[in-house]
Formats: sequence, structure tokens, C-alpha cells
Amino acid sequence: MARILLTGATGYIASHTWLALAAAGFDVVGVDNFSNSSPLVLDRLAELGGFQPVFVEADVTDKAAMDTIFDQHAIDAVVHFAAFKAVGESTQIPLAYYRNNIGGLVNVAQSMQDHGVTKLVFSSSATVYGQPETLPITENSPLAATSPYGTTKLMGEELLRELERCTPAWKVAYLRYFNPVGAHPSGRIGEDPRGIPNNLMPYVTQVAVGKRPFLQVFGGDYATPDGTGVRDYIHVMDLAEGHVAAVRHLLDRNASVTVNLGTGQGYSVLDVIKAFEQASGRTIAHQIVARRPGDVAECYADPSRAKAELGWSATRGLPEMCADSWRWQSGNPQGFA
Ligand code: WQD
Repeated sequence: MARILLTGATGYIASHTWLALAAAGFDVVGVDNFSNSSPLVLDRLAELGGFQPVFVEADVTDKAAMDTIFDQHAIDAVVHFAAFKAVGESTQIPLAYYRNNIGGLVNVAQSMQDHGVTKLVFSSSATVYGQPETLPITENSPLAATSPYGTTKLMGEELLRELERCTPAWKVAYLRYFNPVGAHPSGRIGEDPRGIPNNLMPYVTQVAVGKRPFLQVFGGDYATPDGTGVRDYIHVMDLAEGHVAAVRHLLDRNASVTVNLGTGQGYSVLDVIKAFEQASGRTIAHQIVARRPGDVAECYADPSRAKAELGWSATRGLPEMCADSWRWQSGNPQGFA
């Protein structure tokens, strides 16, 4: 069976993808430097997957380390998750984001090319659409970066598209994630942000376990049904399955593809709070405060191309996203502590 290298392998989306790839029969090799994840994830993957993870601790910006991995493992394709991903943080340390996200991508691609590997799944983001002019967002919607983080995703796509034009052997699947939430139904792996969560769902789950006193709702005066921000939340298990479909597309059809990975359904912050309270039985104390700079009112996908090109669509709804998030957080109040 084909062997897939996952970079950023012990991270939130990658760890769930690891399980999905293994369940689909792929051999997987993981690499991570644990800069934003815990080695404990490997134990949980062994527990959940019934396999001993093949893993290398390394930094994707370390060319020698990446070359050693390709020397030691016959890799057929790479799923490149490894990147810093906090929008606000990226405005504080842009050069670190460029070095890690762009430098790391170029390094991984160079190691791949030096070892004859030219099939790559690139972890992109709806952030490449900037402030959407029309909704739902299609893959032909205008692209614009609105933060250094967004710049690294947009430039990452542009560098890879140019590489494909220069070297046609390269085939890339560009996966633009909307808002990943949820956790493996076992509750044994899930999102474990360091410090104060930037994103809505981990903040909500930390309020639910009593780690945070209340949630600040950033803005109640948007032109949306209830005035709060609307986003396209997608279950991380659906997202993981989308990556399996993308790997299969590259290996079986040897063709590039760019797709939105979203549900096509937008939910407001207050919708999420209500759904989470119903799923958890907990009350989420919250206070509507000023808008967060850089936020858009609404953002949700047209996911039809992923269905047409990959034969994939999301199947899990908001109640399941909330129930699985709660099971993870309530079972691991301190995350992977
Ligand atoms: C969702 C909604 C907030 C926190 C970001 C990145 C994107 C991707 C996903 C990496 C918004 C509101 C949030 C809180 C709140 N990351 N909110 N209180 O901003 O849509 O997307 O994360 O790829 O690139 O931009 O996600 O979860 O931060 O916000 O009211 O404490 O929840 O205003 O309406 P966002 P988010």
C-alpha cells in the first residue's frame, strides 16, 4: 500500500488524518517538532489505531533531517500540515511565520524532489479568500491575504502552482479548510491549543470545563441574522476524510485539484453556543463585546467542487461537532497535559 508522509503529524488536523489514512489502508510516517503539539498524541494514536506509529521528531526547516526521512522511507506522497496558524500571532512575528510556513514548505518540496516524490497535499485555508465579496465562496472567488498567516498560505499556493508549471511531474491538491472543529468520537484526541484559545470552539469548551469564566462574543452588530459572526464549521473527522480523498485523487488520477473543504452551511456564534449547551448540558456564560479587528461578518463555502472532483462531502452536523468537542474536553480538561 502507498506510504504517506505527514508533516505536523501530531497536530490537531494531522492526527485525525493519520487515523483516517491508516483506516483506509495507507502506511503512514509522521514528522513533527512538537512546537505546537504533544508527544502524548502518539500514544493515543497507537491506542485508537491499533498500530505503532512510525514517527520522526524533526523540524521541516531542517533539510538534512527531511532528507534522512526520505532516505529511510519510500514515500509516495506528502500531506504538508506543518505551519504556524494563529492569525493574530502572525501580525506580531511575521518573519517567524514566513520562515516556518514558506521556508518549511520549500524545504519539504526540495527534499521531495530530491527523492523523486512529486505528489503533495497542501494544507491551505479559507483565509486566502480575504474579505469575501459574494457568498457562498467558490474556488474561483478572488484571493487576498489579510494577515501574514494568510500571506503564507496564499504564497504557498502560488509557489506550488508555479512549481507545477515549471515541473509538470508535480501534482498538488490544494485544500482550503473553513473552520475545523470537533474531535475524534472516542474523545481521546482533539484540539489542544497552547495558552488562550484564539478560535471559538476551544474557547467554548474551556468555558464549559471551568477553565475560562466566560466567552467574549466578538461583535453583535454584524449584518447577520442574530448580529454575530457566521462561519462554516466543519468536523475534523470530515476534514480528515477529505484528505484521504485528496491523497487517493493524486495517486489514482495523477492530477492537481483545488477545493474548499467546508459544509456549505453557516452558523453564527450564538448558534454554536446554543448547540454546544444542548450537546453538553452546560451553560456557556458569554458577553457580547466589540468586534475583533480583521473579522468578517460571514464566511461559508460552496463545497460542490470537492464533491465533484474528490467524491467527498461533509456528513457531520453542528450537534455532532459540539458533542465530540465536549467529549474530548470533558475527558481531557487540561488537554494533553
Ligand atoms: C469564529 C467566529 C469570531 C473567538 C480563523 C482563521 C482561519 C482558520 C480558522 C487557520 C468569529 C468568533 C471567536 C472568541 C468569538 N485558522 N469568536 N469569540 O476567525 O473564522 O478563522 O480560524 O487556518 O485562518 O482566520 O475562526 O474560531 O477565531 O472565529 O466571538 O473568543 O467566532 O468573531 O465570528 P475565524 P475563529
